[in-house]
Amino acid sequence: MQPAPLITPSLLAADFAKLGEEVRAVTAAGADWLHLDIMDGHFVPNISFGPALIKALRRHTTIPFDVHLMIAPADPYLQAFADAGADLISLHPEAGAHLHRSLQTIRGLGKKAGVVLNPATPIATIEHVLDLCDLILVMSVNPGFGGQSFLESQLPKIEKLRRLIEASGRDIRLQVDGGVTAKTAPLCLNAGADVLVAGTAVFGAPDYAAAIKALRGGAA
Ligand code: DX5
Ligand code: ZN
Repeated sequence: MQPAPLITPSLLAADFAKLGEEVRAVTAAGADWLHLDIMDGHFVPNISFGPALIKALRRHTTIPFDVHLMIAPADPYLQAFADAGADLISLHPEAGAHLHRSLQTIRGLGKKAGVVLNPATPIATIEHVLDLCDLILVMSVNPGFGGQSFLESQLPKIEKLRRLIEASGRDIRLQVDGGVTAKTAPLCLNAGADVLVAGTAVFGAPDYAAAIKALRGGAA
């Protein structure tokens, strides 16, 4: 039997007027990690929040902070996100010229490193940096906004990445982000994902614990 997938609710869909409370509620509801979407209005057409907010939220929970950087350049801000309390920092290859160096920097800050593949970004982009990856994130929507529809075109990419990770023998998490709901979660899990990001499907639900359980496939 497959171990239960990790669920990492995206704070982007939370009530921004009461974020501390939201973080505590989702922790109590069984979230494994907290997904924090950082948007700069340049790399993606939306602006969210930055390291100061992450620092303020850090004392509201002990679950790992999974920081998804949608900013370019990202390199000048890695230290700030590490200092603010990120446990894992993921970035897009398109955010800078030297992905290998960016991943080295994140690892050098003592944090786990992730690479994010946009819907059109090929797997080949990361094939030669697997030794520096703790996580690979497949975007199943175009980054920038919550509440978009899941792109089934990304399922073969998840399957291929699962095979690549198994063949490498490395301890790399495979995460999916965008349009993940109780309906699309099984597709991601069957394709080989082991970490699911969900914004609307958790924070938009009346019962966070029930929503998280449903994403895990009904398992507690
Ligand atoms: C999109 C973000 C996602 C977003 C997911 O750019 O990376 O993390 O919050 O939201 P839902 O789950 O509503 O698609
Ligand atoms: Zn995200």
